[in-house]
Amino acid sequence: MVPNTITSSHAESEASQSSLYAFELIVERLGGKVRAGQKQEYGMMEIEVEKACGLFGNKEVGDRQVVWMSHDDEAVKLPDGFEVVARSHQGSVAGVENRARRFYGLQYHPEVTHSPDGMETLQHFLFDICESLLTGRWKMEDVPDEEIKVIRGMLGPEDHVIYALSGGVDSTVAATAVHKAIGDRLHCVFVDNGLLRYKERERVMETFERELHLPVTCIDATQQFLGKLKGVVDPEMKRKIIGKEFIAIFDAFAQDLEQTMGKRPAYLVQGTLYLDVIESCPPSGSGRTHSHTIKSHHNVGGKVVSIVRALGKILDIPGAFLKRHPFPGPGLAVRVLGDVTEGNALDILRQVGEIFIQSIKDAGIYDSIWQAFAVFLPIRSVGVQGDQRTHSHVVALRAVTSQDGMPADWYNFEHKFLDDVVRKICNSVRGVNRVVQDITSKPPSTIEWE
Ligand code: XMP
Repeated sequence: MVPNTITSSHAESEASQSSLYAFELIVERLGGKVRAGQKQEYGMMEIEVEKACGLFGNKEVGDRQVVWMSHDDEAVKLPDGFEVVARSHQGSVAGVENRARRFYGLQYHPEVTHSPDGMETLQHFLFDICESLLTGRWKMEDVPDEEIKVIRGMLGPEDHVIYALSGGVDSTVAATAVHKAIGDRLHCVFVDNGLLRYKERERVMETFERELHLPVTCIDATQQFLGKLKGVVDPEMKRKIIGKEFIAIFDAFAQDLEQTMGKRPAYLVQGTLYLDVIESCPPSGSGRTHSHTIKSHHNVGGKVVSIVRALGKILDIPGAFLKRHPFPGPGLAVRVLGDVTEGNALDILRQVGEIFIQSIKDAGIYDSIWQAFAVFLPIRSVGVQGDQRTHSHVVALRAVTSQDGMPADWYNFEHKFLDDVVRKICNSVRGVNRVVQDITSKPPSTIEWE
């Protein structure tokens, strides 16, 4: 019932995309029809109950709720036995049921916070409609012990593991869990690829060593990465080059370890966001290697273990560290549009990003934002600074709210905050004379610009 990208093999599909959401797939496979919608529905939408249904706790016909939509196909004919239970205010089918067969489908995303009643709907589905199948006894507190058991079960008693530590929350939580499971058979490696944020290397290494007591080797590979990225402007190419260099470094690290220990490490572990798994996966049967539009990122190879972010608290990772905004694996490479090695784009971006983030922290709003960062634009604009005309760089500020990075909305800063931050940037970062703000939600945009 949760929308999912699954490829339809239905030859006569008139849908606009080759992959359908699960709801649309149910409609098509069971004899209904999906086709490209007259109007696209992206972002917040109101839907209205058209028939009382257990999915909505039997709310009355006419009851309304706001949901997050992200589709441009629509169900125009339902399979036999199905009825519409909710419609969007534009008239598209938003929810269906086949009560006799106990099939339910939603066109929107109930799982995201931008659908405020979505969790309640999921609960109705799980505990009312699926009744005796589920008990709801799962507790996050039990997860560390379970995960540690799983990790120990996966590994032989003598196996050593290399951990690709990015410094992000997920990767650090997962490393801490693996460390608890196998102790000094874990070998973490943190790579400075020259694409990190302001003083990132120093800051995360201090946390790893002093606060988390993780065994981490730091490798400075700045020249290696920047050398390979010279002249590259295509974002996908940047990602591929970066992924390849990471693998080469981990390989070299594994060989060094093998020489020292006389035994090759058995696993390469990487912690990642659930989103990364979804947006990096191809629809099954598509023959593609990646989810269609999205990015060839995240999983750099080896055997990947993904462990839930919220475990960090239970694992005693400092709160401030756990609240850090996510940071993409290819780092600032996807925030400098164009060639990252050109001029001093990376330095400018680091300084602007630091001012932006520090101002957000000072204003006490860091935790209300999913992710905030600056983007370096490959254009110059005219300005006047002192009695001089300048022809300098433009940077964009982006801050979004989100639950999981999938749908996201732009964060509405106060006027004074923006005024102060822009003044600070232009006064202290040489080479920037114009700052713009990105106020587009996802969809239709993505969070990152590349
Ligand atoms: P988008 O831009 O796809 O971003 O809306 C959603 C989330 O994913 C992060 N992101 C990446 N993470 N490698 C990563 O590890 C990447 O290539 C990449 N691209 C985007 C982004 O920062 C946001 O949190």
